[in-house]
Amino acid sequence: MSNPSILILPGDGIGPEVMAEVRKVIDWFGANTDAKFDVSEDLVGGAAYDAHGTPLHDDTMAKAQSVDAVLLGAVGGPKYDVLDFSVKPERGLLRLRKEMDLYANLRPAQCFDALADFSSLKRDVVAGLDIMIVRELTSGIYFGEPRGIMDDNEGGRVGINTQRYTTDEIRRVARSAFELARRRGNKVCSMEKANVMESGILWREEVQWVHDNEYPDVELSHMYADAGAMQLCRWPKQFDVIVTDNLFGDLLSDAAAMLTGSLGMLPSASLGQPMENGRPKALYEPVHGSAPDIAGQGKANPIACILSFAMALRYSFDMGDKADLVERAVEKVLADGLRTADLLGEEGVAPVSTSEMGDAVIAAIATLS
Ligand code: NAI
Ligand code: MG
Repeated sequence: MSNPSILILPGDGIGPEVMAEVRKVIDWFGANTDAKFDVSEDLVGGAAYDAHGTPLHDDTMAKAQSVDAVLLGAVGGPKYDVLDFSVKPERGLLRLRKEMDLYANLRPAQCFDALADFSSLKRDVVAGLDIMIVRELTSGIYFGEPRGIMDDNEGGRVGINTQRYTTDEIRRVARSAFELARRRGNKVCSMEKANVMESGILWREEVQWVHDNEYPDVELSHMYADAGAMQLCRWPKQFDVIVTDNLFGDLLSDAAAMLTGSLGMLPSASLGQPMENGRPKALYEPVHGSAPDIAGQGKANPIACILSFAMALRYSFDMGDKADLVERAVEKVLADGLRTADLLGEEGVAPVSTSEMGDAVIAAIATLS
C-alpha cells in the first residue's frame, strides 16, 4: 500500500517559515516511525499569483482534490492589496474550501498549562481547557440569496443577507460534530437562536434528529448562541464539542480561541465528505494570517502550524497516538520555558526563534516517544 499523501501549500509571509518547521516534524516521523507520508509542495495565495497570475493554479487545485490532506501556511500581504478582488491571495484559500466542499471547520481551544497565566481569564477557569468548536463553513448567511445592496424604491438603500440552511447541510455538519465527540468527551452542545430565527428552529430539530437516529450514545444539549457566548467566558470547561452555524461559529470560535492566549498557538481543520478511502476531504491550517509585520525575521511561532499537523494525524490518518505525542511535546517545550516573542509576558526571558522552537519540539518528540 502506498503512503498517505500530503500536499503542503506554504503560502505567503510567515507561512513558509512556520511550514519549514512542520516539514521537520514530518521528516522526523518518516525517519523514526511507521508514519511515512508522500509529501508534495506547491504555491498558493500571493506566491501563486507571482508565479502564475492566479492565487491558485488549476493544477494545484486538482492536486488538492487528490491527496489525503492539505496543509496550508497562510496567504496575503500588503504587496497584494492593490490587486483586483478576483485574484487576491485570499481567493486561493476560498477556492480550496469551496471546491473541496469543506463544510465543517474545527477550531480547538486548548489551554496548555504553562500558558494558563497568559489568558485574560483566571487560571482555574482555563487551565486544562480542551474544547472543540465545529463551525458550519459553506452555507448560512455568508452565502444565502438574496443578498446585496439595493435601492429601497423610497430614495434610500437596503442591505440584504439571507440566512438559509437545508436539512442536509445541518445534518452533515452535525454528524461531523458527533463523530468528533465520540473520540473526545462524548458531549455535543448545539448553538443557534431558535427563539428568534426559523433557521435556528430547523437547526435545533435536525441536530436533534441526527442525534436520536444515529448518535444516541452521545450526550446532546442545545443553547441559544448568546447564552453560549456568556457561558464560554464564565465556565468554558462545561463544554466538549460545540456545533454551530457559520455566523455564530465565526464569532464564538474567535472568542473561544482567545481564552487560551496567542494567535501563534491556534490550529484549525476544515473537513468535507469522506473520500473513497474513508478519509474526509481535509485542509489543515493555523488560524493566524501571514503576519507581514514579523515576516522574514525568524520571529513567528510555528506551534499553531505544528498543532495543525497534529490534527491531521488525528483526523485524517487515524494516528491519535502520534497526535498526542506532538501535543505532549508542545506542552513540554512550553513547560521548559521556551517562548517565541508572541508568548513573552515575563520580564527577562529571551525569545527563541522560529527554527529554535521547531527544533525543540522535535527534540521533545524524540524524548517522549
Ligand atoms: P495575522 O494573523 O497575520 O497577524 C495578526 C498579529 O498576530 C500580527 O501582529 C502578527 O505578527 C501576529 N501573529 C500572527 N501569527 C503569528 C505567529 N505564528 N507567531 C507570532 N505572531 C503572530 O492577521 P492580520 O495582520 O490581520 O493579516 C495579515 C495578512 O494575513 C493579511 O493579508 C490577511 O488578509 C491575511 N490573513 C490570512 C489568513 C489565512 O491565510 N488564513 C487569516 C487571516 C489573515
Ligand atoms: Mg473570524
